[in-house]
Amino acid sequence: MNLDFKIRLINNFRKFTSSKKNQKTNNSLQKGLIMCAKIKKIKETNKEENKIYLVTEIKDLKPISLSKAELTYVEKQKKDLESNFITVNRFGYWIFIQFLKKNDDIYLTLENCRKDGDKALNTLNNLKFSKIQIENLSWKKDEVICFAEGMALSNYQYLKFKSTNTKKANSLKEILVAAEIVSANEITELNNVVDAIYKCKDLVNEPPASMTAKIFAKEAEKMAKEVGIKIEVLNKTKIEALKMGGLLAVNRGSVDPPTFTIMEWKPAKAVNKNPYVFVGKGVVYDTGGMSLKPSGSMETMKCDMGGAAAVASALYLIAKAKLPVHVIGLMPATDNRPSGNAQVPGDIIRMYSGATVEVLNTDAEGRLILADALHYAKKYKPELVIDIATLTGAAANAIGRYGIVAMGSKYKNYMDDLKTSGWNVFERIVEFPFWEDFDELIKSEIADIKNIGGPVAGAITAGKFLEYFAEYPWIHLDIAGPVFLDKKDSYRGSSATGSGVRLFYDFIKNKSKK
Ligand code: BES
Ligand code: ZN
Ligand code: ZN
Repeated sequence: MNLDFKIRLINNFRKFTSSKKNQKTNNSLQKGLIMCAKIKKIKETNKEENKIYLVTEIKDLKPISLSKAELTYVEKQKKDLESNFITVNRFGYWIFIQFLKKNDDIYLTLENCRKDGDKALNTLNNLKFSKIQIENLSWKKDEVICFAEGMALSNYQYLKFKSTNTKKANSLKEILVAAEIVSANEITELNNVVDAIYKCKDLVNEPPASMTAKIFAKEAEKMAKEVGIKIEVLNKTKIEALKMGGLLAVNRGSVDPPTFTIMEWKPAKAVNKNPYVFVGKGVVYDTGGMSLKPSGSMETMKCDMGGAAAVASALYLIAKAKLPVHVIGLMPATDNRPSGNAQVPGDIIRMYSGATVEVLNTDAEGRLILADALHYAKKYKPELVIDIATLTGAAANAIGRYGIVAMGSKYKNYMDDLKTSGWNVFERIVEFPFWEDFDELIKSEIADIKNIGGPVAGAITAGKFLEYFAEYPWIHLDIAGPVFLDKKDSYRGSSATGSGVRLFYDFIKNKSKK
């Protein structure tokens, strides 16, 4: 058999099996939702049922009828053990007393509430509760909301591939909030946020075999349909016709075609004349391509579409809340693999913008597909473009999982607004320097620019590469650190975290008020 023919046979077989496989797994994507504990508002709590009282000081316990012995016990636990979550067993039901962990910084106080929500949730699941009542005795509105948010987000599990005998599904299904200051609308909003984060996590956690570019686009279509978002998916033929050279170059090593998904939320009474455009990196799997990654660094690379997943989920959430803001999402998607036809270091490619790029490392692929999307964004005359991407190990090395690395240009006040949102949802933004001096690091001898910058400032040179294609107010977010965790981080959990979704939602929500 001639070798070329043999390779074609193998490729065809892969196409066949992967499409079969995909049909099967496709239907069952987003199983995580089963675990989603619903939050409900109730008027008052049932007396003889499990509940958590939210209090600030001992004296807040006055309205509830603790016995003398119980009160002494609570005081002792609080003072001697410095415990802020105290359990009282009423033999038949349980009472939990959650003290507020106050900080001078309001954002830290609220984050403590979310973290305490996570801790409480673990206790409740260990006790196999299916529901819990929360009664507010002294907390402020946002504190109650954040506590419930921490609980609900923390309840996420990815159990799709667990067999019945190894599956340990969380028991908690209902979080009943008795707090006058929290409105029914705020509870609905909270459920929507949790739903969007669960969706985003499911997309990112899905294994590479069943998360091709096409499947990603299909999932985005499902989400768009549900909330009335206009969506268009450009297929390979269209991408070729447009000459999106960056996306096509990365896709050359793949047997699966690329996609370019465009979501548009354009409400009738939008507050903005020109749209906000979110651009998400959708590398559904990053092997590094011919510049192959060592296997250890490859293990988690299904997270490389975390940016695209965040954009789809954020738009879903924005539309679900019917925010009166015109927002567009662009999600270029492909996997990055070596093959007989893959691009190699030394290749020069022509991008969608017409610029030429010397590709010196095929593992710096995210910037290639994002550059085409950034050029595409120009046609909308955007008010602001924010791209979000698992772009560099350098960003993750610089600040770890603790925040999002940001940079940008011509962004007016928007960087400050985004930083404020970062504090609001505790997805903290760290702005890196973006001096002109860095420009020279991506200059190429033989093309317009090259796709790597050298040993220093890797996150910044990646940003500089993108800036070359961003001819409008623009911010770049590198989420390589926080997007996917090897160890649980409180309510964010482990594996996919949904990084960027709550951030974008808060940012657009604040715009809708202006
Ligand atoms: N997807 C990776 C970046 C990444 C690293 C994401 C760790 C999440 C966790 C990206 O495509 C990449 O490989 N970047 C290279 C760029 C380098 C070759 C200039 C990197 O950071 O090493
Ligand atoms: Zn890469
Ligand atoms: Zn990548």
